[in-house]
Amino acid sequence: MVKDLILVESKILNGSIFPLAFQPTNESESVHITQWLRENQSELDDLLRKYKAILFRGFNLKNAEDFDSFVEATNYQGMAYLGGAAVRTQLTSRVFTANESPSTEKIPFHHEMAQTPSPPTHLFFFCEVAATTGGETPILPSTEIYKQMYIKYPEFMEKLENVGVKYIRVMPEEDDPTSAIGRGWKSTFLTDSKEGAEAGLVSLGSTWEWLPDGSLKTITAVLPAVRIDSGPNRSNEKTFFNSVVAAFSGWNDSRNIGERAVVFGDDSLCDRDVMYDILHCMDEMSVAFKWQSGDVLVLDNRTAMHSRRPFTGARRVLASLVRDPSR
Ligand code: FE2
Repeated sequence: MVKDLILVESKILNGSIFPLAFQPTNESESVHITQWLRENQSELDDLLRKYKAILFRGFNLKNAEDFDSFVEATNYQGMAYLGGAAVRTQLTSRVFTANESPSTEKIPFHHEMAQTPSPPTHLFFFCEVAATTGGETPILPSTEIYKQMYIKYPEFMEKLENVGVKYIRVMPEEDDPTSAIGRGWKSTFLTDSKEGAEAGLVSLGSTWEWLPDGSLKTITAVLPAVRIDSGPNRSNEKTFFNSVVAAFSGWNDSRNIGERAVVFGDDSLCDRDVMYDILHCMDEMSVAFKWQSGDVLVLDNRTAMHSRRPFTGARRVLASLVRDPSR
């Protein structure tokens, strides 16, 4: 029903095209994409497992409702954005705005909600309005970055794997849209009370400290930074599954200093040169295709990382976080 599309920006990584891209061969296929999704869930699962990222282009999706229907046609279950750092607005039951941080801000590579115990298995992005310039969502396979970094920095990577990491972040009381990590504690934990926020923190395994201005300093439990892509039919490859580089290089605002926002599980600090070299290698490896309005990008959030480039224009990219019910 759908046809492989070769993007000029695609790469061959470890023998596979990245991302896989589909376009309809005729108008009827464009209209019936939700039917195709409903009837081909196991094929979609297999393709995402193999290729880690799939772009659907030209399927005539116009708005949040069309995107919601696209996601709904899969058997993945919607999930709330509990514990995430970005300021977002919920548009439909499954669809949020993607990070609303200022267009001048770059958002570094991360797995969605890697700093929480239960990240989504998959992530959908929808480009409602393409940027005038920039605004790409660069992606990379975290299995490949793990392999490359292990060759370069075996000690660092073994420590990451053996000791894990903690993320430290000060949240304002109310959302601060001037910051990429400006989500306030009230909206993070869907509460108006400190007790409600504390209950949310307990459920995440985090510790905390209330600061005099009403902001909240949170320290996560020790979280794994390298995971194995395990489970039925999974690759059993190791993945660089964390927000380490994102936090270190990007969690800077009036309340936070990125280089102190992530530490090893034993409280030791990460080496600055290594962190910035990993960042550089990620940029080199990544694929940054130019969004077209109507594009849907589906990522396997266990094996693909994403980021965002700064942009100009009225870019509007929406997101939906889901879990594979079989996992
Ligand atoms: Fe993200």
